[in-house]
Amino acid sequence: MIVKADEITKQFLRKRENSNVFYAVEKTTAEFRGGNLIMIYGQSGSGKSTWMNMLGGILQPSSGRVLYDRTELYAMDDDTLSKFRNQHIGMIPQGQTAIHSMNVRENILLPFSLYGKEISAETGERADRMLEEMGIADLSAVMPSELSGGELRRMAIARALIRQPEVIFADEPTGDLDDENTRTVLSILRRQADMGKLVMVVTHDREVAEFADLTYRMSGGRLCLEEPEQIV
Ligand SMILES: Nc1ncnc2c1ncn2[C@@H]1O[C@H](COP(=O)(O)OP(=O)(O)O)[C@@H](O)[C@H]1O
Ligand SMILES: [Mg+2]
Repeated sequence: MIVKADEITKQFLRKRENSNVFYAVEKTTAEFRGGNLIMIYGQSGSGKSTWMNMLGGILQPSSGRVLYDRTELYAMDDDTLSKFRNQHIGMIPQGQTAIHSMNVRENILLPFSLYGKEISAETGERADRMLEEMGIADLSAVMPSELSGGELRRMAIARALIRQPEVIFADEPTGDLDDENTRTVLSILRRQADMGKLVMVVTHDREVAEFADLTYRMSGGRLCLEEPEQIV
């Protein structure tokens, strides 16, 4: 899968002296291919989440197009887009996303139960494999309130990966994790890229660079590719 941002921008309203709008993301064109882990690095407020959400189909750009191969995301109606997202895109949002009335396994199966379909035996087995892969198999029946930050994050990743999406976005996936959990989470995402998926990690954590094929810097809504020697 090739994901292309074609001259996308995002403007938000903000009262200022001269103008009421500002660009959270300035006009950007970029193309990303499966098999790569892309790191988008930048300070808080630089536009990283805005960028990721536009590429991930949950925030319509103010102008420009987002293409998944030849499919234009925001040309689809809402229902079609949300089905497309459910099939092709795995989102690991920033912060906490657990449903607290469901146990870990049910949380992971959410992308299936969302459409009211019954969970097939095969899907159930996939959930169990996923739990195993994330190292949380023993927590299957546990409620999220009993999990540590690292375990919750791995649960969120399992949920994003359960439908085997070709494109995976992670917003600050290591933000609240210790070193060991950070490396575990990044290895999981790295493995997805090695399997041919496109993985985009938005972060202010420099450690991600070590796992990335390409590093971009977001600064004041401007995205630029960093040369390897610039990364420290
Ligand atoms: N819905 C919104 N309405 C107005 N301004 C917003 C909105 N979302 C984000 N912003 C602003 O856009 C800028 C970029 O935000 P964001 O993409 O969340 O940055 P980052 O993820 O890099 O911390 C910030 O100045 C933020 O305040
Ligand atoms: Mg953010």
